[in-house]
Amino acid sequence: MKSTSDFLKMKAEGEKIVMITAYDHPAAKFAEEAGVDTILVGDSLGMVVLGYDSTLPVTVEDMIHHAKAVRRGAKDTFVVVDMPFGSYHGDSNETLKTAVRMMQETGANALKLEGAGVVLTAIEKLTTAGVPVVAHLGLQPQSASVLGGYKVQGKTAEQAMKLIQDAKECEAAGACAVVLECIPHQLTEAVTKALKIPTIGIGAGASADGQVLVYHDLLRYGKHHIPKFAESFSFVGEEVESGIKNYKNAVKDGSFPTLKHSFTMKDEELSQIYG
Ligand code: KIV
Ligand code: NA
Repeated sequence: MKSTSDFLKMKAEGEKIVMITAYDHPAAKFAEEAGVDTILVGDSLGMVVLGYDSTLPVTVEDMIHHAKAVRRGAKDTFVVVDMPFGSYHGDSNETLKTAVRMMQETGANALKLEGAGVVLTAIEKLTTAGVPVVAHLGLQPQSASVLGGYKVQGKTAEQAMKLIQDAKECEAAGACAVVLECIPHQLTEAVTKALKIPTIGIGAGASADGQVLVYHDLLRYGKHHIPKFAESFSFVGEEVESGIKNYKNAVKDGSFPTLKHSFTMKDEELSQIYG
């Protein structure tokens, strides 16, 4: 399994870090067998798996439930788990308690928290207690209502300078990496150069030290809205659709099941039934 120091080394050597989200056992197993560097159990699960229209309804229990399944499927991959909306803005002892529970119950390797500012205290508290923290700047879906929607962040010089400062403060607070979501590629380059810890981009251009995409977006698996920055690396949804239709049609027209799918009893047993 890779560690936070491997990720630092990969940044230093220019080897891209590949992160993918996963929310269940088969996805985690596929990701580990494909050799991704790290898996994120993102609270995006609220949208792509649980059918909510934002990440806000996702609970600590939801995260733990899914992270445990991912851990069982990817025992040798560095797993990061999102702390969900509302779980790390209160008293910092409470935040630490929640974080410790998430680490112990799931076997996660790190937790991810959105934002800098007041969240820096939590980043420092968790790191000091031995919980590696991945920061998350730029578009922060848990704050989308405050930001006025899912919009590109850091487009003005003022916003960009603030984001660079925030990133430096996350690093100083002990973050082991920072996710940069939906920011101009030039800003990603500036942040990446300003930090020793790796940047992992999503909708943030090519200059980040690594990339992350949502499983269901990159595989085109589901009926949810897919953001413009997500490339389609396969079309799993179409396969699922045609598989289910084929099954339905086969049952309706009697072509499934056949003897091949059936169990047989001996004729002498059968004859006793009919007498
Ligand atoms: O929840 C998630 O999937 C994320 C990624 C988009 C970085 O936070
Ligand atoms: Na998230």
